[in-house]
Order: sequence, then structure tokens, then C-alpha cells
Amino acid sequence: MDLEWGTAGSRKFITNVGLITSSGPHGDNIMAAEWTHHVSYKPGLIMINIHEVDTTYENIIKSKEFGVNLAAIDQNVASSVSGGSHGQQIDKIAILKELGFEFYKGKKIGALMLKGAVMNAECKVVKTEKIGDHAMLIGEIVELSLADKQPLVYHDGKYWHIGEQVHKPEQNTLDKIKELAERYKRS
Ligand SMILES: Cc1cc2nc3c(=O)[nH]c(=O)nc-3n(C[C@H](O)[C@H](O)[C@H](O)COP(=O)(O)O)c2cc1C
Repeated sequence: MDLEWGTAGSRKFITNVGLITSSGPHGDNIMAAEWTHHVSYKPGLIMINIHEVDTTYENIIKSKEFGVNLAAIDQNVASSVSGGSHGQQIDKIAILKELGFEFYKGKKIGALMLKGAVMNAECKVVKTEKIGDHAMLIGEIVELSLADKQPLVYHDGKYWHIGEQVHKPEQNTLDKIKELAERYKRS
């Protein structure tokens, strides 16, 4: 069955907002991608799932690299600009610069990277595949920098910040889980 955009089911997930930067036939560009996931430690891999009609897709396919800038809580405006139009029609980087956002040139890739993000990961594409109605692009991190800021959270079609910590279970509950694991061990 389908799990369509904007439906109650698709709005249950909680994600980061990846601001994906690229440089290619359509110049420097940035798009918002909630489907930005860390999928391997060694090597460090990040997967993004984006529409093949997006300007970003063609830029990445041609350049074989992309930037992952994980939005910080003070970057919701950057997300709205990045997700609001197509780079083939609008120079979103120029708009963001007008709005006070700053970029630096990637150290290992040609794309621009957004300053002030929680994480800046420069990636080289290692795998691409069409999955359902989007394309999966996996990039290996070749350069990484981190900032001590809170990530912007995306849920229910809205932006949020991380709230109160939910603590791990009390020790007596952990002991009980251990006891049950002993009892339900498969032989
Ligand atoms: C918060 C947010 C998250 C988004 N997540 C995705 C996503 O994961 N994948 C996708 O294909 N589009 C996503 N979009 C839509 C794209 O950002 C949008 O289509 C954008 O215009 C594409 O830009 P481009 O054509 O310049 O590449 C998202 C938009 C917003 C605002």
C-alpha cells in the first residue's frame, strides 16, 4: 500500500533536516531533505532520498558528490528557502546570502557548505538506486565538521527543538529485563 506525503502515517516520523548542497550543471544549489540518514560507521555513510526531478539530483549525478548540512534550530528559515523552490528556477543560495546566511567552499568537494549547521559532512557518492518514487543516494563522508548546537527537528510537517530527556528505565526494570532475557533465551 501507499504511505503518501502529508498523510497522518507519513507525519509520525521524526527526522533531522538535511540541507543538501550541490554544485553541477545547475550551478550551486541547496535543498531540504528530511530523508537524511547516517547508515554506516566504518566507513561513515549518509543516505539521502530525493526526487529525480529535483535540481539537486542532476547536480549530484553529474558531480558525484554532495554536502550534508544538518540544520540547527536557528536555521528553519534556511530549510524553508531550500525546500520551497527548484534551483533550476531560483538561485536559493543568493536568497539565503541576502537573508544573512553564510557559506564556505567545501574542502574536499566543489559544493558550498552552510555555516552554522550542526554538522557539515562533505560526501562522495558510492551508490545510487531508485527506491519507490525517490532515488536513494549514498555518500561516503570525506570531510566532517561539527558545531555544539541543537539540531532542528522535523515532525508532523513542522519544525521543533529537542525537548526534555526521557531517561533510561530504572535499575530494577533493567534487572527485570535481564532476568526475562535469561528466561527466554533460545536454545
Ligand atoms: C523540511 C523539508 C523536508 C524535505 N524533505 C525532502 C526529502 O527528504 N526528499 C525530497 O525529495 N524532497 C524533500 N523536500 C522537498 C525539496 O526540498 C524540494 O522539492 C526542493 O524544491 C528541491 O529543490 P531542488 O529542485 O533545487 O533540488 C523537503 C522539503 C522540506 C521543506
